[in-house]
Amino acid sequence: MSRTVYVNGDYLPEEDAKISIFDRSFLMADGVYEVTSVLGGKIIDFAGHLVRLERSLNELDMQKPEAFDDLLDIHRELVRLNDIDEGMIYLQVSRGSSGDRDFAYPSADVKPTLVLFTQSKPGLADSPAAKTGLKIISIEDQRWGRRDIKTVQLLYPSMGKMMAKAAGCDDAWMVEDGAVTEGTSNNAYIVKGNTIITRHLGNEILSGITRAAVLRFAKEAQMKVEERSFTIDEAKSADEAFITSASTFVLPVVELDGAAIGNGTPGPIAARLREIYLEESLKAGV
Ligand code: PDD
Repeated sequence: MSRTVYVNGDYLPEEDAKISIFDRSFLMADGVYEVTSVLGGKIIDFAGHLVRLERSLNELDMQKPEAFDDLLDIHRELVRLNDIDEGMIYLQVSRGSSGDRDFAYPSADVKPTLVLFTQSKPGLADSPAAKTGLKIISIEDQRWGRRDIKTVQLLYPSMGKMMAKAAGCDDAWMVEDGAVTEGTSNNAYIVKGNTIITRHLGNEILSGITRAAVLRFAKEAQMKVEERSFTIDEAKSADEAFITSASTFVLPVVELDGAAIGNGTPGPIAARLREIYLEESLKAGV
């Protein structure tokens, strides 16, 4: 069945939704995005995603779309029109189209392009991977230096996922100067005893909205949190490992570059954090 999507003020059947071939997101990857999850028909962590979107726009001197203040209503309307119970909403803002290709940013009268669409994923909260755990490979981090901005330059993360697939694994963690930055589309964590270790924020990683919530819940549950770099060797000898993102929530990692993490099965801390995250998110969804 065709989805109803949103393009620049209009709700349209997906086959009728069109943007210009000169759109800068198409020609220059000059666009930013957010992925927000839906659980029980409610939008999860919306406020956090909106704050990060505004920051991404500011960092790139990109205009806010006119409908910026209506984004919650647009998300809700798409959930309603597409009858989404569990899934995701993808939002993209690009610098728009000046009607030609030019490296320079267009003048201020060129309006940004705003596109949103839903992805229905029944069973998202009940993912089998939560029980089996993920197998991860490590790859060199070859992305640009402003990974804190959520841009649509996703070719290297796509390549990373394909490298993982070719190796019979689920995903990849990226490594720079000997330290893990993050997963191809998620933040990376290891656990030692009662301590959760994840890379500190900076230009090298995306400040995950799920990361912020999970670290808050971990502290509230009296777990210790260390925000610092860690190496692949340290990860291999950890008791547990896991990832977080809006589309996976918390998922355990059971294997890294062929080595079992802990006893090679999902660990209790990741399981507990997943449970708390899902429980609290369902309560707080809007
Ligand atoms: N990715 N790091 C990277 C590189 C990401 O692409 C993502 C999210 C995250 C986690 O951020 P959050 O918790 O706010 O989802 C970390 C989304 C899900 C995607 O590209 O589909």
